[in-house]
Amino acid sequence: MGRVEGKVAFITGAARGQGRSHAVALASEGADIIAVDLCQQIDWTSYRGSSSSDLEETTRLVESQGRRIVAAQANVRDRDALERAVNQGVEELGRLDIVVANAGIGRVQQWDQVTSQVWQETIDVNLTGAWHTVMASARHLIASGGGSIILVSSVGGLKANPFMIPYIASKFGVTGLAKAFAAELADHNIRVNSLHPSGVDTVMATGQSDAAELIASHPRLAASFATILPTTLIPPAQISNAVVFLASDDSLFVTASALTVDAGNTAL
Ligand SMILES: NC(=O)c1ccc[n+]([C@@H]2O[C@H](COP(=O)([O-])OP(=O)(O)OC[C@H]3O[C@@H](n4cnc5c(N)ncnc54)[C@H](O)[C@@H]3O)[C@@H](O)[C@H]2O)c1
Repeated sequence: MGRVEGKVAFITGAARGQGRSHAVALASEGADIIAVDLCQQIDWTSYRGSSSSDLEETTRLVESQGRRIVAAQANVRDRDALERAVNQGVEELGRLDIVVANAGIGRVQQWDQVTSQVWQETIDVNLTGAWHTVMASARHLIASGGGSIILVSSVGGLKANPFMIPYIASKFGVTGLAKAFAAELADHNIRVNSLHPSGVDTVMATGQSDAAELIASHPRLAASFATILPTTLIPPAQISNAVVFLASDDSLFVTASALTVDAGNTAL
């Protein structure tokens, strides 16, 4: 028996990176998957966007675990589109038990370089997108008799990192959103937790070629990226281990928590 056998998980930003890893990990533990992703380039990020072939690869990997998947291109900024994707998935897969609000964007740049567009779209995707994800899915969890919601924040949702003003603001918002939803949804047997990785080995972290130079030119501020454990980037599968824990009955009394997988970054 897998740790989430027979359950259905809805994951945003599932085309690649951590979202794909969470889809495969939950499938390997017995869950069917509803996956959405934007599958487009965002014009102001300095790293490449995902594509529909990335989402097809996630589909292939989940199916190779012997599980079903309903995948759709959808923007978490568009609440109606998310609702359509979740409703379609629940219609095909029969229920919903787990939600992972994982889609996110960001750009490392100095405060005076941040445009109104970068500010607004970062908040819209990372914070409002997480709210849309819960709003589109919570009633399905209630219909299942309860469930687990995991909102992917960051160490940047617990502490200040330099050169990420909109990102940090959005991720602190996600931390609060998880606690607020945990309080209200507890009556429906729904747990809500936030997850806080430090740097993870995905395109978002490795694709920002200009970031390393900016950080290196400010050695005092660069210390905020240090970790206790001797590591730079955490493999996505290690973040997925935390997702499976929070999704499963192993964490039945864990709610409103902010779980770090950060090699000790927030302790420094
Ligand atoms: N990589 C890191 O160092 C790191 C550290 C801490 C937290 N995080 C967070 O982890 C989450 C996953 O990021 P990742 O590292 O896998 O990066 P990633 O860029 O590889 O994956 C993010 C996915 O989200 C999708 N996405 C972006 N905007 C979307 C939108 N509007 N609607 C739907 N999908 C959208 C992208 O297309 C992409 O497939 C994000 O919330 C990110 O902020 C990342």
